Amino acid sequence: MAKTLPNYKNTVFTLFIFSSLLESQSHQFSRKLSPKSLGFKKQKLSHLHFYLQETVTGNNPTAIRVAEAATTNASRTAFGATVVIDDPLTMGPEPTSKIVGRAQGIYAFDSLSESRLLMALNYVFVEGKYNGSTLSILGSNEVFSHVREMPIVGGSGLFRFARGYALAKTHFFNLTNGDTIVEYNVYVIHY
Ligand SMILES: *[C@@H]1O[C@H](CO)[C@@H](O)[C@H](O)[C@H]1NC(C)=O
Ligand SMILES: *[C@@H]1O[C@H](CO)[C@@H](O)[C@H](O)[C@H]1NC(C)=O
Ligand SMILES: *[C@@H]1O[C@H](CO)[C@@H](O)[C@H](O)[C@H]1NC(C)=O
Repeated sequence: MAKTLPNYKNTVFTLFIFSSLLESQSHQFSRKLSPKSLGFKKQKLSHLHFYLQETVTGNNPTAIRVAEAATTNASRTAFGATVVIDDPLTMGPEPTSKIVGRAQGIYAFDSLSESRLLMALNYVFVEGKYNGSTLSILGSNEVFSHVREMPIVGGSGLFRFARGYALAKTHFFNLTNGDTIVEYNVYVIHY
């Protein structure tokens, strides 16, 4: 007994094959693009200068220790202590100076022999054309050396494709309460 599929079934089947072909094209995993097609025209080098204001005591600390090891308190270098920060970045060194952004992220004391921090944070800018753009920092910060250098590993917004380095210099350190003001010079290549 010969059976022919009703015509509409064939049509449905053909449509199915056709749409999966289309789909495999629209779901293409990777393709080559010219930077210009996404609006990236010319690379430039920018220099940013600001101060980071870190408050560790009082009613409104901007840096909070969130974790430590059982041995951290006995460690000369606070090995294992982990701190989350949301520090204002200001134009000038005075704490009342205009805020241009915030340093948000984590640092951890990761050296057994010196006061060295693993820095993993973002500068989140709020000023002018950089409002909403970010730079990501991942580096090592030996806090008692004169100038520390940390790599800029990326960015967002106006800082897409960013790379560069940040130079940090302690401007003020209150030995009594640990509050710190750090001067930053950031050199970044971006589009
Ligand atoms: C470390 O010292 C601080 C301050 O004295 C104390 O609050 C904390 O509980 C200590 N941590 C440990 C793991 O002993
Ligand atoms: C930055 O952007 C936010 C969100 O779009 C806006 O509310 C704020 O007013 C802007 N700040 C400045 C200084 O332009
Ligand atoms: C340093 O901290 C202490 C204790 O909070 C405070 O009394 C003092 O005014 C601070 N020094 C400066 C120069 O800010």
